[in-house]
Amino acid sequence: MYVSSLIRAAAVAALATTAAADGAAIVDALNNVDSETQQLEQTVQGWNGGYLGSIPIVTQSLHVLYAINDGTDTANDSDELTTDEALSIATAVSTLATTVNGTMSAIIDAHDEFEHLLLAPIVLLDLKKQKSASDEMSAAIIAKVPTALQAIAQNLVAPIDASFTQAIEVYSLSNGI
Ligand SMILES: *[C@@H]1O[C@H](CO)[C@@H](O)[C@H](O)[C@H]1NC(C)=O
Ligand SMILES: *[C@@H]1O[C@H](CO)[C@@H](O)[C@H](O)[C@H]1NC(C)=O
Repeated sequence: MYVSSLIRAAAVAALATTAAADGAAIVDALNNVDSETQQLEQTVQGWNGGYLGSIPIVTQSLHVLYAINDGTDTANDSDELTTDEALSIATAVSTLATTVNGTMSAIIDAHDEFEHLLLAPIVLLDLKKQKSASDEMSAAIIAKVPTALQAIAQNLVAPIDASFTQAIEVYSLSNGI
């Protein structure tokens, strides 16, 4: 009797730990996307428009893509989130939305330089991949948010999508290949 309730208590504690770790893991993954995206913004802002300097931008752009895919995997592997976990993720999503806005603005500002080097089509491809990866990550996270909070979650991720769309529109207008 004593042993079995001890085992049950341990099982409950283990479940609670797993659930709590999921929300935290998604927050970590979002913070990682945020820091890679900030680094991309700094790389673009520090660029002098030269060909060699564009290589670290393309590389960092890939890091952003990997970080987003990692976030999707983390969310996919997660259990249903508690309300508290969903709220902590909401904060991380708003922070990321602000960062993506800044990074997409910097990329839009650099459009003419990229076009001059005939690299605009490559940036466009990267942006499209990132947007579609980001849409998947958002969907994976929202799927784990309690139903009552899903509409709010949709509103929180919408600006991220809108920022990518703005940049994609600008790069779609280039006379690239
Ligand atoms: C995440 O799950 C969705 C829905 O089950 C699936 O379509 C998608 O391929 C998964 N993505 C990853 C990266 O595992
Ligand atoms: C960034 O946010 C501002 C204010 O909401 C908005 O006007 C602007 O279009 C956004 N830019 C991008 C690239 O998302």
